[in-house]
Amino acid sequence: MSPSPIGIFDSGLGGLSVLREVRALLPHETLLYLADSRYAPYGDKPQAFVQARTLQACEWLAAQGCKALVVACNTATAHGIQAVRERLPLPIVGVEPGLKPAVAASRSKVVGVLATANTLASDKFARLLHSLEDQCRFVCQPGGGLVARIEQGDVDGPLVRERLQTCLAPMLEAGADTLVLGCTHYPFLSETVRELIGERMTLIDTGVAVARQLQRKLAEHGLAADAGMGGNTGIEPGANPIAVARYCTTSDAEHLRRMARALLHVDAAAETVVIEPAPISL
Ligand code: DGL
Repeated sequence: MSPSPIGIFDSGLGGLSVLREVRALLPHETLLYLADSRYAPYGDKPQAFVQARTLQACEWLAAQGCKALVVACNTATAHGIQAVRERLPLPIVGVEPGLKPAVAASRSKVVGVLATANTLASDKFARLLHSLEDQCRFVCQPGGGLVARIEQGDVDGPLVRERLQTCLAPMLEAGADTLVLGCTHYPFLSETVRELIGERMTLIDTGVAVARQLQRKLAEHGLAADAGMGGNTGIEPGANPIAVARYCTTSDAEHLRRMARALLHVDAAAETVVIEPAPISL
């Protein structure tokens, strides 16, 4: 049993969609969220940068006393999680586009995958795709530009709609009935996607599966907090438990606070932390 926090890391705000599910499943855990918004998006940065920065961010979380880490970013998982696992002796959970649940959900056996260019170009993704290609046809589209809009708090503006339409059109034309949201920022676009395509595709988001995997790992390592520890302790009945998480960003804390309120409907204090220098100049 451990009251230490669980570190949740993303290039920016996307990991909040994972934090939301972790908090729902594990309300007694204390969470420490780190958004590397100073360097977001990672999706079109050099892969060596993504790897090195992911390691730096996870080392920072470990130094804060985290008992386990969630790399809540598909791009950082694809390019950096192996290095993190080699360096840090902690349970580490990553995220990957939900191709397997999509194959199970699809009737037409045509699945659309929306992810960053770096995720789609990774060896890890190529292996996953290859393992399922005999069961399904995948139409993959890089969602370039979407993460930057979401970082600005724009989840339904004209640029977002136009970009989504461009990405979704080839999937629909190919007969896709299932859409993998292969970037943790994209669940925040779910309502806009629904407005654009109605019920024509089932949306697959892996946040819940990641939270369950974390729960299993904590149990395996005897690290779960008990009901009296951290998390909800001291929160009045009816208060939103997400408010007890610590929210850190390498960019503007006030912006993270506003975005946590807009995206998660919580009023949380946020702080700016310095994790410098960046490993490779851009
Ligand atoms: N949330 C990250 C992911 O899941 C976004 C990557 C980016 O910063 O471009 O891939």
